[in-house]
Amino acid sequence: MKILATCKLPEELMAPIKEKYEVVMADNENEPMPRKRLLSEIEAADGLFTNVADVIDQEVFDRAKQLKVVSTMAVGYDNIDLEVARNRGILVGHTPGVLTEATADLTFALLMATGRRLIEGMDVIRDDQWKSWGPFFLTGQEIYGKTIGIIGMGKIGLGVAKRAKGFSMNILYHNRSRNEEAEMELDASYLELDALLEQSDYIVLLAPSTKETYHMMSTPQFKKMKHSAVFINTSRGLNVDEEALYQALQSNEIWAAGLDVFQTEPINSNHKLLQLRNVTALPHIGSAAIETRLEMARLAMANLVNGLEGKPLVHQVK
Ligand code: DGY
Repeated sequence: MKILATCKLPEELMAPIKEKYEVVMADNENEPMPRKRLLSEIEAADGLFTNVADVIDQEVFDRAKQLKVVSTMAVGYDNIDLEVARNRGILVGHTPGVLTEATADLTFALLMATGRRLIEGMDVIRDDQWKSWGPFFLTGQEIYGKTIGIIGMGKIGLGVAKRAKGFSMNILYHNRSRNEEAEMELDASYLELDALLEQSDYIVLLAPSTKETYHMMSTPQFKKMKHSAVFINTSRGLNVDEEALYQALQSNEIWAAGLDVFQTEPINSNHKLLQLRNVTALPHIGSAAIETRLEMARLAMANLVNGLEGKPLVHQVK
């Protein structure tokens, strides 16, 4: 059987796999397999190891002649056309759980970096613009004791709430369903979205990307936020109307944004949002801790191999 991996994976993971399967893998570590090659290699593949950089759409499934499993090295699977997969009986696996803490760490780090203007501080030194200590030089927003509003109280949201508790923050959340653990253990309060937007100092978006969450943050939502609000997005770029966010930041409707994800990735220095001082941008590195990425790769491979061997996937997307 043939496994197609669209990213280059470590030899320690691949050596036992290569003994059992024919493996075709991307050549370079930080470059996804070109789409043209993916479309040609998928024809004879039984299993596909993919990640958030690939679009696994109808065209890919149409080319595949004997595909049985698609396994993504990510918790999010909005880049995979699940309906087509389902209709063709192709299993889809993902990697929840193992990236929870690393992503919560990064989310809180981005919240702190944005609130306290850390990256700007570094830029000032690099650009030789640090001339003296000034009473209001690079002043940001306090974090300790402020109100955080978490939109999407799943595993990662809960992880962020635990970190916020350590900073004595007042925790508000909005979610499709109530999260008892957050309410009982962290004293988190469930609010309707509008009330959360109005009351929070830090607004953290962690909702999955679906038809319902497309552009869920747009002009009306930014207008509801405080002028001092810091908006953080470590979920998916499509959840945010970037033009509306640009307007809100430029007109000081909100104070700053920290973004790890964008509507179209990758972005570069010409991106409109990067022209603004009050944007802190990261290149989709929420789960990018060494141990975490190794665990994600192992789990994604276990999903793939289980599927190929006719066993239940460790984490199947239903
Ligand atoms: C995910 O897992 O969905 C992240 O966006 C990539 O780590």
